[in-house]
Amino acid sequence: MTGLRTAPPENSADEALRRVREASPERPFVVAQLGQSLDGRIATVTGESRYINGPGALTHLHALRACVDAVVVGVGTIIADDPLLTVRRAPGKSPARVVIDPSGRLEPGLRWESADEAPCYVISGGNTKITAATHIPLPMDNGTLAPARIIDALFKLGMRRLLIEGGARTISGFIEANCVDRLHILLAPVLIGSGKMGLDLIPQGDLSRARRPVVHTYPLSDGDVLFDCALSDPRKA
Ligand SMILES: NC(=O)c1ccc[n+]([C@@H]2O[C@H](COP(=O)([O-])OP(=O)(O)OC[C@H]3O[C@@H](n4cnc5c(N)ncnc54)[C@H](OP(=O)(O)O)[C@@H]3O)[C@@H](O)[C@H]2O)c1
Repeated sequence: MTGLRTAPPENSADEALRRVREASPERPFVVAQLGQSLDGRIATVTGESRYINGPGALTHLHALRACVDAVVVGVGTIIADDPLLTVRRAPGKSPARVVIDPSGRLEPGLRWESADEAPCYVISGGNTKITAATHIPLPMDNGTLAPARIIDALFKLGMRRLLIEGGARTISGFIEANCVDRLHILLAPVLIGSGKMGLDLIPQGDLSRARRPVVHTYPLSDGDVLFDCALSDPRKA
């Protein structure tokens, strides 16, 4: 077949990044990102997750980091992946790095706190062993740190635009608390069949109650597609 196909422009997702950069500084703005397979998985059953997405999605993630004041991850992601959380594949500065570690499970010496580029913070409900990071203690409710409290605490420290980078549990908690303005899902054309789900939200028996965000889609040059989803936000009401 000789169909005429036009390659997407190199930076087709720039519009999605601009929405983050141009968000009002008057209130917190939260974007979450998740790279996943067509069947909604972020890792295989053995935990292998590098790399489900192609290089375009990774570049988008780094560009997204460069648009925000802080990148926030759950302790599970630090333990599983030992990420740097810095900006390396796109122009711009690395944001502050924030880890949610409610019970002080994090051990010192991992890469996120040794990349000497931007300040590091640990949010917990008790103590932390991480002396290289500023400790933000917050009250816990049944083992949970309320996402709205986390956002407020960071906003008071001057971190207005936040990227919730993962993992599944952390992003799902922020979405359930209606604390995410935009969700960037980077969908890779691969079927994994089983493994860790990207989002784990409260089940809806009634389809009419399912979230149906307004979505813009952007094809990346290597076959992945960015879904930029505007999630409803009662804080604006
Ligand atoms: N595909 C992607 O885009 C992407 C991005 C990042 C990570 N990942 C993958 O995701 C996996 C890790 O995800 P995960 O769901 O297991 O872990 P996670 O979301 O990184 O961390 C979850 C843990 O963080 C703490 N936490 C987060 N939010 C909290 C809150 N509001 N209140 C209290 N505690 C909170 C809890 O710690 P405690 O357990 O101590 O209570 C929770 O169990 C890894 O396999 C990683 O490779 C994928």
